[in-house]
Amino acid sequence: MTIRETMLALLKQSGDTFISGEEISKQLGVSRTAVWKHIEELRQEGYVFEAVRRAGYRLLSTPDVMIVEEVKVGLATQAFGQHVHYYTEIDSTQNRCQELAKEGAPEGTLVVADTQTGGKGRLGRVWHSPPGTSISMSLLLRPQLELQRCPQLTLLAAVAIVEAIRAIYEIPAEIKWPNDVLIDGKKICGILTELNAEADRINWLIIGMGINVNTLPEQFPEDVLGVATSLRIVKGEPLRRVPLIQEVLRRLEELYDLYVAEGFAQVRKRWEACAITIGKRVTIRTLHGSFTGVAEGIDDSGVLLVRKDDGELTNVYAADVEV
Ligand code: BTN
Repeated sequence: MTIRETMLALLKQSGDTFISGEEISKQLGVSRTAVWKHIEELRQEGYVFEAVRRAGYRLLSTPDVMIVEEVKVGLATQAFGQHVHYYTEIDSTQNRCQELAKEGAPEGTLVVADTQTGGKGRLGRVWHSPPGTSISMSLLLRPQLELQRCPQLTLLAAVAIVEAIRAIYEIPAEIKWPNDVLIDGKKICGILTELNAEADRINWLIIGMGINVNTLPEQFPEDVLGVATSLRIVKGEPLRRVPLIQEVLRRLEELYDLYVAEGFAQVRKRWEACAITIGKRVTIRTLHGSFTGVAEGIDDSGVLLVRKDDGELTNVYAADVEV
């Protein structure tokens, strides 16, 4: 942990009790002036401290920021998110994560941004993330898998996000194939997986997640307003972003470890349990046209199995699905 991470952890642990500058400097092994400098830096980020002569400091309020220290203090993972890169503004966290991957960044490296100027969605679409509203993050994985198993990891990410939202907010979030997370039929989160591979070997894979946390209706572009929502709209109050990041990372790591140890079966079961698509009549729109049928499940490569009205079972690889 860095000095600032340890300091923030100390101040959070002390709660309402003051902790003296001397105590902090002793525990951190730095000078009192250094402690004061870090406190001032954190104040610039929006943290509010009460400082009382002789008593010391206490933390009065924490801003809704996703800076490295905030993400790492209280993060219950071994690897996921243990290397965090935070940007207030960036073109796309996917692009930055690609660069870090090329430079040899370890598995679990996370890039987080408050806003993206060139956010990428699936199928070449644009992803909007106005400042202060959402979580835009990209996680670097270096799995030793056959190429054709990669889509399973996108499904795994959707399960982790849905389960995290259900656990923290008690909201019945659901998955729409392949990996949209919906609440009340409206999209709250999108996942974009990008792969860097050679003929038979994965170099790395980046899972990009965009979660609408505090977005207000007027902040959605007109064309998505009818089909998108945010946790704030659903809960009726603003929410903090970091606890959700930490819970998603914790669940992602747990599921990933399970997947590496035991394969896809458990993930598939949990995906199907969260999916609205399964067992329903769906309209499938592909580049080549559309058809209707009943979605029966997914196979091991994440392909959607749809029983067409004429009885034929079809594999759907890439499409927009209407339930
Ligand atoms: C989709 O539903 O179309 C996928 C959206 C994925 C958006 C996330 S936000 C973080 C990461 N960076 C990007 O540029 N895109 C993904």
